[in-house]
Amino acid sequence: MNKESDLSKKMEISSPKKLTDVNRLTDVNRISTDVNRVLVIGSGGREHAIADALRRSPQVSEIFCAPGNAGTAQIATNVAIKDTDVAGLLHFAQENHIGLTVVGPEAALAAGVVDAFRAAGLPIFGHTAAATRIESSKEFAKQLMEAHGIPSAAYRGFSNYDEAVAYVESRPLPAVLKYDGLAAGKGVVIAETIEEARNTLKDMLLDETFGEGKVIVEDFLTGPEFSFMAFVDGKNIFPMPLSQDHKRAFDGDKGPNTGGMGAYTSLPFISEADREFALEKILKPTAAAMCEAGCPLSGVLYAGLMKTPNGIKVIEFNARFGDPETEVVLPLLQSDIYDIFYKIATGNSAQLTEPSWAEEVTMGVVLASKGYPGKYEKGFEIKGIENLQSIVYQMGTTFSDNKLKTSGGRVLMVIGKGVNLQSVRNDIYQEIEKIECDHLFYRHDIAHWAIEDGK
Ligand code: AMP
Ligand code: GLY
Repeated sequence: MNKESDLSKKMEISSPKKLTDVNRLTDVNRISTDVNRVLVIGSGGREHAIADALRRSPQVSEIFCAPGNAGTAQIATNVAIKDTDVAGLLHFAQENHIGLTVVGPEAALAAGVVDAFRAAGLPIFGHTAAATRIESSKEFAKQLMEAHGIPSAAYRGFSNYDEAVAYVESRPLPAVLKYDGLAAGKGVVIAETIEEARNTLKDMLLDETFGEGKVIVEDFLTGPEFSFMAFVDGKNIFPMPLSQDHKRAFDGDKGPNTGGMGAYTSLPFISEADREFALEKILKPTAAAMCEAGCPLSGVLYAGLMKTPNGIKVIEFNARFGDPETEVVLPLLQSDIYDIFYKIATGNSAQLTEPSWAEEVTMGVVLASKGYPGKYEKGFEIKGIENLQSIVYQMGTTFSDNKLKTSGGRVLMVIGKGVNLQSVRNDIYQEIEKIECDHLFYRHDIAHWAIEDGK
């Protein structure tokens, strides 16, 4: 990154225009030079990967991360503003002549950061709060899919406990019970018995463990899951390579659900026809449906998909880059990510050419604090990262007393790139050995669906 640029001399920003319609953003103030300062909102491995991709752009002069982590601090300037502090972020962007802001986490989108920046005339990459409902409201997403024939599990939504129990009793087990709202990753329960379903529904609807809200009851589907992300601007879609996350904490897909313990690209069990189906029958109609619903997408659409015996179906949508998928997908991007973000942020995606992606495979392994996703301690020193040849994106780290320390559940992700998944995997696991920290654990079987199970 060119830190020497004299930004105060080179940058000129015209006075912000008020935009009345947050869905239209073709007439924002533009920075009149080639020197661009970018703000990335978020603090995880995903944001480290986004900042790293921006760093490769010749158009980007300086990167800020709010709040960032010890990894982003090496390539950007961290600013201590919380990702949901919309007023604080806007104030920082205005004061510091930020030319483009990129939003990582869903909480920031749902808090309306995009709406606020657009109203102030500042280019920002991410969806409005209304469009973010595709992730933040499961019922909104299910209704949209049902209305537009987008394949997904059969479902009903309930706020009444007795009606929900009666519905579960009328369907085959197991039942998938999803709390419709933010539930810190604990909102999905797969109930094997009626009794378990009753207890869960009692927790969610009668005791309101997560607050007042509805429950979506879905049929249970089976098959391999995969993630399909795309850059989207209205009806324009620019797909990214497919990837697969590993949600369970331990080897063999055992243990509790986590935010994701590893990911890789190149999925032999998903054919080109499957991908085409997902693009044509899921992603494109979803983008069109969001336009019709009056809340067009303008950011990343993440489709969590399952290849069931009855075809590919949507398990969930996210309104943002996936984590840890982003950490394995963005290292393959050969096009200038700033260009993609900026053109989408300013409603100019019609000028974008299809992004190009390296014909290689990537795989990444997450190192998490022992105890995660349950209780864990933090503040332990991590040594040896500088000895790794691989990409290392930091997820939950901090730098204090001149030491790199753990500061979150998921701490580091080690990523390898190459032509052969098996040898990339071998290299990564050797690389991980160089990291010294007794308080971390990781899975040893990332990519098993492609390497062992696929055989
Ligand atoms: P979600 O938060 O909706 O992605 O659900 C979390 C996880 O629960 C998914 O990654 C799946 O492994 C599982 N899951 C969700 N919905 C279903 C379903 N209808 N059938 C089977 N498994 C599901
Ligand atoms: N990897 C799943 C997610 O980002 O929600």
